[in-house]
Amino acid sequence: MASINENYLKLPGSYLFAEIARRVTAFKSENPSANIIRLGIGDVTQPLVPSVIKGLHTAIDEMAQPATFRGYGPEQGYDFLIQTIIDHDFAPRGVTLDIDEVFVSDGSKSDVGNIQEIFGLDNIVAITDPVYPVYLDSNVMAGRTGTLNNGRFEKIVYMPCNAENQFIPELPKEKVDMIYLCVPNNPTGTTLSKAELTKWVEFAKANDAIILFDAAYESYIQEPDIPHSIYEIDGAKEVAIEFRSFSKTAGFTGTRCAYTVVPKTVMGRTASGETHSLNKLWNRRQTTKFNGVPYIIQRGAQAVYTPEGQQQIKEVIKYYMANAKIIREGLQSIGLQVFGGVNAPYIWLKTPNNMDSWDFFDKLLTEVNIVGTPGTGFGPSGAGYFRLTAFGSRENTEQAIERIKTKLSL
Ligand code: MLT
Repeated sequence: MASINENYLKLPGSYLFAEIARRVTAFKSENPSANIIRLGIGDVTQPLVPSVIKGLHTAIDEMAQPATFRGYGPEQGYDFLIQTIIDHDFAPRGVTLDIDEVFVSDGSKSDVGNIQEIFGLDNIVAITDPVYPVYLDSNVMAGRTGTLNNGRFEKIVYMPCNAENQFIPELPKEKVDMIYLCVPNNPTGTTLSKAELTKWVEFAKANDAIILFDAAYESYIQEPDIPHSIYEIDGAKEVAIEFRSFSKTAGFTGTRCAYTVVPKTVMGRTASGETHSLNKLWNRRQTTKFNGVPYIIQRGAQAVYTPEGQQQIKEVIKYYMANAKIIREGLQSIGLQVFGGVNAPYIWLKTPNNMDSWDFFDKLLTEVNIVGTPGTGFGPSGAGYFRLTAFGSRENTEQAIERIKTKLSL
């Protein structure tokens, strides 16, 4: 019998969203007539925009002709998409990138989960708490942590973010090597200002740390002065890797396309102190383990950047942000304390009477048939909090809030 990677045994039995799905399925089988509204997992509900559909169709037709058919593409992504990304997402914000600093992939979940492979197992990982579970779970699997003790993994530096500190993480006091930041934040829906991000870049430089910056929700930023990319901060190209995704920006959760920026100036070191470019290591990893995103999908992603595509995705984002407003204001009207939902599609609420997050999950599901996400699923500092997403349809969002306002016993 082959031995197993025992680090997997340190993890709780199931991934957060798998556990939610399991509970909802069990409830549904006992209550088949319940009209369940799902505001749990942050999955989009609006269709791909016409410009993307056109891009996909054209590419499908190309695949039908010998002259334009494509087999394996570059593992890093096609230049046509990478150049378009650089020209639209970075150049207008004063960020210059080379074409070989952007890696197209099938999703930020894969990239944020896989990136830790290019780092040594002796690195100390810092995560904001609460946070998207993939950062932590992937490091547990790799063996960079001890065991789970009272809701916290040994050897992980947790940086609590709560109402008391306005969800602004404090710089760690101990030596850390890999710092995960998610801005706008999943799950709290809050952001960090340019001044806050500058502190992090300076900290990383002073402490030889790397920032793993997840900007998957960047397109939801509404307020003018919030940076969209960590590279808007001076010096970040020496210390940060950035993850971006078409999932929430353009409805690609089922279509799968994202990209990761690894500047050639971000370095790591060997045990003996030799420095190496992380860009080279990531390129080596991707060329070995990944065969690229399908041509058809990359053409669909490129179509996001046409003038019509940009206009169309803006409308969809506006639609979700109007849902966010409905949720925020509806919950506030019954006296609940809410956060986020202004620059992000997530609303983070304080559970009534400081109720346990999973108890509130069950209450919401059984009393009003609404699915949300318990705060503790994102980390110990999520206790007493709960997340709702703005990615539902307008009708479901309105109905959900109406049910909470009129039928939930508080
Ligand atoms: C979430 O609900 O947090 C997201 O949908 C998870 C993801 O993007 O993988």
